[in-house]
Amino acid sequence: MSEAQYIQWFPGHMTKTRRQMEKELSLVDAVAEIVDARIPVSSRNPDIPKMLGKKPMLIILNKCDMADSTVTAEWIKWFEEQNIKAIAVDCRTGKGLNQFVPKVKEMLSDKIRNNKDKGMAGKPLRLMVVGIPNVGKSTFINRMAGVNKAKAENRPGVTRGNQWFTVDKQLELLDTPGVLWPKFEDKDIGERLAFTGAVKDNVVDIELLAMRLLENLMASYKDLLFARYGELDTQLDSYELLCALAKKRGMVVRGGECDTLRAATMLLEEFRNCKIGNISLERVK
Ligand code: G4P
Repeated sequence: MSEAQYIQWFPGHMTKTRRQMEKELSLVDAVAEIVDARIPVSSRNPDIPKMLGKKPMLIILNKCDMADSTVTAEWIKWFEEQNIKAIAVDCRTGKGLNQFVPKVKEMLSDKIRNNKDKGMAGKPLRLMVVGIPNVGKSTFINRMAGVNKAKAENRPGVTRGNQWFTVDKQLELLDTPGVLWPKFEDKDIGERLAFTGAVKDNVVDIELLAMRLLENLMASYKDLLFARYGELDTQLDSYELLCALAKKRGMVVRGGECDTLRAATMLLEEFRNCKIGNISLERVK
């Protein structure tokens, strides 16, 4: 997290964003929340469901190109079971985005019928797009609305006016006013956000983070880990694992000591660049 982002994270800013959002919610028919498919729980903003009231919500599991497709399919099913529509997309390539408009229409079928009954069949549906920083909100809006001015200003003190984007004559998107933060206070959530790079590395201990990632990967994706780095002794603790990784990659300093910082940096980078494979860090319980 940069200093500017940290400042904006103060509760006063959060309250302001929340109030503004509550006001703007009256302008839309529904909300689309973009989440990271690899961490669909940790990458949600905890306040949104409380603010929504009865407004329908669509979950967009973005970055599904990096997630485990089986787990993503389980999440879609889970959200649908909670009566929340969900789609999996890759906003970088556009894969899955063709589901968006049909899903919105399905979600708002009552509203469409009502509009028709009132003689307002052509009235566009309006959706607010929300998401914590780095989840791909700007990429999504740019893809759907075909414009490049959707990048939000994540700096404190900068307030943006309403930003509306037209998908087609029947659908308009409202970019969220202000910045929504995830729930940093929870240790596990903070950790998962750091694994994916949503939280910047200068606020976390890289070696500790890599050790925790190794524990997670050993527990759920051992085969992928071994395929990338070779077999590792399952009896090792996480520090010893990091050392073993360093040795396998020739990361040793004078005297034969393993360079755990270099190994940690490499592991995190390779995880974030999807070099280890398609990995989801949260599963449906
Ligand atoms: P934000 O508005 O929510 O803060 O996020 P933004 O769209 O800026 O996206 C954050 C990063 O995530 C960007 O990468 C973007 O390219 C990437 N991204 C967005 N959607 C997807 C996706 O579906 N799959 C993958 N793999 N990446 C995605 P960046 O490295 O910060 O910038 P750049 O390399 O695109 O310049």
